Amino acid sequence: MLFSKLVALLSATLVLASSKPRSVQKLNIIRDTDGLQTNVTWDEYSLMINGERMFMFSGEVHPYRMPSQSLYLDILQKVKSMGFNTVSFYVFWGIVEPKRGVISFEGFRDLQPFFDAAMEAGIYLMARPGPYINAETTAGGFPGWGTYTPSLWRTSNTTYYEAWQNYVSTTAHILAENQITNGGPIILVQSENEYTGWAPGYSEDFTYEAELLSAWRTAGIKVPITFNDASPEGHYLTVNIWGYDSYPNGFDCSSPYTWASNAVPTYFWSAHEEYAPEEPNAVYEYQGGAFDGWGGSGYDTCAILTGPDFERVFYKNELATSTTYLNLYMIYGGTNWGGIAHPGVYTSYDYGSAIAEDRTLREKYYELKLQANFLRVSPAYLTTRPMNSYSNQGAFTGNQALLTTQVLDVVGNQTGFYVIRQANASSNAMEMYTLTLPTSVGNLTVPVLGGQLTLDGKDSKVHVVDYAAGANTLLYSTAEITTWATIDGRDIIVVYGNAGELHETAFKFDGTVPAATVVSGSEQLKSETINSTNLVIQYTTTGQTVVEVGSDVLLYILDRANAYEFWVLYPPTTGAYANYSTADPILVKGGYFIRSVDVSGSTLALLGDLNSTASFEIIAPAASSAQVTFNGEPLTLEKTSYGTLTAEKTVSLPQVNIPTLESLTWKTADSLPEITPTYDDSSWTTANHTTTVNPTQPSTPVVLYAGDYGYHTGNILWRAHFTSLGAETGFTLNVQGGSAFGYSVWLDSSFIGSWVGDAVYESYQSSFSFPGTLSKGSAHVLTILQDHMGYEEDWTAASDDFKAPRGLLSYSFEGSNATTVDLWKVIGNLGGEDYVDTTRGPLNEGGLYGERQGWHLPDFDDSYWADGLPTNGISSAGVSFYRTTFELDIPSGVDYPMAIVTTNMTTNPYFRSQFYVNGYQFGKYVNSVGPQQAFPVPQGILNYNGLNTLAVSLWAHENEGAKLSSIALEVLAQVESSMAAVVNQPMPPWTPRPGAS
Ligand SMILES: *[C@@H]1O[C@H](CO)[C@@H](O)[C@H](O)[C@H]1NC(C)=O
Repeated sequence: MLFSKLVALLSATLVLASSKPRSVQKLNIIRDTDGLQTNVTWDEYSLMINGERMFMFSGEVHPYRMPSQSLYLDILQKVKSMGFNTVSFYVFWGIVEPKRGVISFEGFRDLQPFFDAAMEAGIYLMARPGPYINAETTAGGFPGWGTYTPSLWRTSNTTYYEAWQNYVSTTAHILAENQITNGGPIILVQSENEYTGWAPGYSEDFTYEAELLSAWRTAGIKVPITFNDASPEGHYLTVNIWGYDSYPNGFDCSSPYTWASNAVPTYFWSAHEEYAPEEPNAVYEYQGGAFDGWGGSGYDTCAILTGPDFERVFYKNELATSTTYLNLYMIYGGTNWGGIAHPGVYTSYDYGSAIAEDRTLREKYYELKLQANFLRVSPAYLTTRPMNSYSNQGAFTGNQALLTTQVLDVVGNQTGFYVIRQANASSNAMEMYTLTLPTSVGNLTVPVLGGQLTLDGKDSKVHVVDYAAGANTLLYSTAEITTWATIDGRDIIVVYGNAGELHETAFKFDGTVPAATVVSGSEQLKSETINSTNLVIQYTTTGQTVVEVGSDVLLYILDRANAYEFWVLYPPTTGAYANYSTADPILVKGGYFIRSVDVSGSTLALLGDLNSTASFEIIAPAASSAQVTFNGEPLTLEKTSYGTLTAEKTVSLPQVNIPTLESLTWKTADSLPEITPTYDDSSWTTANHTTTVNPTQPSTPVVLYAGDYGYHTGNILWRAHFTSLGAETGFTLNVQGGSAFGYSVWLDSSFIGSWVGDAVYESYQSSFSFPGTLSKGSAHVLTILQDHMGYEEDWTAASDDFKAPRGLLSYSFEGSNATTVDLWKVIGNLGGEDYVDTTRGPLNEGGLYGERQGWHLPDFDDSYWADGLPTNGISSAGVSFYRTTFELDIPSGVDYPMAIVTTNMTTNPYFRSQFYVNGYQFGKYVNSVGPQQAFPVPQGILNYNGLNTLAVSLWAHENEGAKLSSIALEVLAQVESSMAAVVNQPMPPWTPRPGAS
């Protein structure tokens, strides 16, 4: 009521929102989107959903990187149970409109299952439809046809403007239907992406920005429009809620324990106050992991670089800037299956995220849960301001090695949050300190009962002062709070510290001070009444200790490992937004993952996943927990002396039969008939363009850029027909394909050489000798097979970097400058932009003969092929294809993620392979570059209950040939699971492929 009145009253002042006065007005003016809607509003402190302030703790998930759509719910529920309420996602223009004017949201590209899963998980969505997204995707999300569309992209240039119209309006309509204003999950839409840097001579194009804003609104976007500056530099300030990105620990996963001494950002608050003082401090991408490139050190190292210690230090530092919108990129990375990747990343996009590529949970997940649950129950934080951002060294502690930022609730009752960290971020020193804090009862030096607090190396803490927890007020707590909940009239307060640390929690009472009694655990408390109405409790955080403070407080004192085990769950209410409720929390300790809770009558139904036998403690209203079920089975309950429930649940992890792939029958066929004398390439595309709009102007008589002929992904074959002048001794060529690409060249049927590729070169010039002299007037053909690692991104606006061609940059005949190519032919994926497999999309298959023929697809008749394994391989340079089938019969009720795994081959190491599972390309392997050897394939792409087809391509770069060192199907984790049944993605079988030759 008050809220809607306020909005009405202020509608006259809404013009302020768009004109962005630079003067700092602390008016607490609630803004909407110029009267379009009132569901999502904001002021200078936070976002509000239907008037309720929220810390938007968000994680990035890309639907297109998880094509098994029935797993969306599992991922989003994992995000939700971590205490998050929002997910941010990109839409990838290049896969939606691979042929200009033909837009398809078919199959895995359909966004509706993602929206539906968000509603079911109770997760809000921020949509980021680009049109440019970066995202380590090929061409940064631009469609391949963009590479031959003239004029600078990411500007207001008319040609580009016309190019994005169709995509933006079609996509925006789909998003609009799923906005919160229409009963959907979308609360924000981002325009462009990191539009922050420009090629020399160009600058921020305000016309382009305005055109996009207008296009979103015209197509029906009513929720606030946001923008993420790549770093806080004040670009695109005309959006509703401006914000920025930051990756402060960088991407060098090979030195994961090394942090720069000044790695923790310190200027975000001043930047926010300079650029968007009337909006919430919003960080739309904050480092949640790191990507890893070809030849990199692997995602396990990225998970260390951005591990729990990183999460503590860097995310708590965001609280020192009163950030109230925090999106972690990535929270679930997924897979660059097919041709999704740009050359800077390989097949896995695990990202070292809290939720791994195979959907298992890293320790990072549990650390984040501690922080997210705290923010959810700390509304005072939502109206805070940092009070001493630039004078925090030694503040409150007197210890110059420590920075303490005071963050005060300036609207409410002055609740204080004291964020403490090392001044030198790289320090591993154990710092001792006491805190002298202003409190509502005057200054106190904490610990009051003696001793010192500790900050051990790469750590950070949030100490609270005058903090409301239900009916109680904590005068202060040095142990951090992960949650509190009022259950059956009792305030359950859960605090934690590192094992063995000294801490104090003090309660502020009005009158009589009750006693503190240990009711569980071995901890010895020290307690004392100070100022006659305040009770100070001192303890160390070791294991779990439960303390009753009078009759209406239950204080859980935990070490970190015990705190990790706490889950905060909310029973659904009714209606479409039932799963968004944050009322009536239920606390559960134990279990690898608790997915949800439901209450019906006196029964509490828990759904969860276990990887070992669980001991639960359940804190729930007595009336709704007379019986408790776990995944539908009743638990045998016992009651603790202090009124909570405990139960054991044995885990059930059935053995499964996984086929030994190397024991199966495999079929093999040659996949390079192009080098046989009778091969006919007449149906290929003739490469005969003499001009191109590409910024890289050709130095060859005809344009030899695959993209100009509509081939944008995977392997590309070129054929150069020439007539000998009798003097040629060899061939020199410069081929470009992106980092880790390679190529091989044949003269007629003779192999003449390869560039085997490495992580450094995006293009490479080689000279190969002909095996003998050619007779004058004889006709020959050179066959060039090259890899395409994706297009470059277009990070720098107005650079057109994404147009960097894939193909031949130059060539010449050794010994005979006058020799010319009479005819150039090129082929990539069958059909090019008129790609054949609309289910698996435009990037799934490349131009190898076997791919053009559909040999990677289920049901292709390989009965006439020879027997042969990829681990036997081939004995000369060339390409071969291998196929096998196997059955799986995995019982329901488990989540056993699997991967195709190979190992490094050290003899004859120069080869590359692709792994196709039921026609979906889920692995691009370059043996000599690496690092990836395990290629997770999600359930639903892998058929867990029936037949699977595995196809492998093997391209040997050297005369000695090549073979895979090994190939296996491995179970990556065994989890008893409550996830919804997985429905297989469509796996259309082979059908005749007209035109494939
Ligand atoms: C959006 O706001 C309107 C007006 O206050 C309200 O009636 C409606 O229920 C809200 N929608 C949602 C999904 O919360």
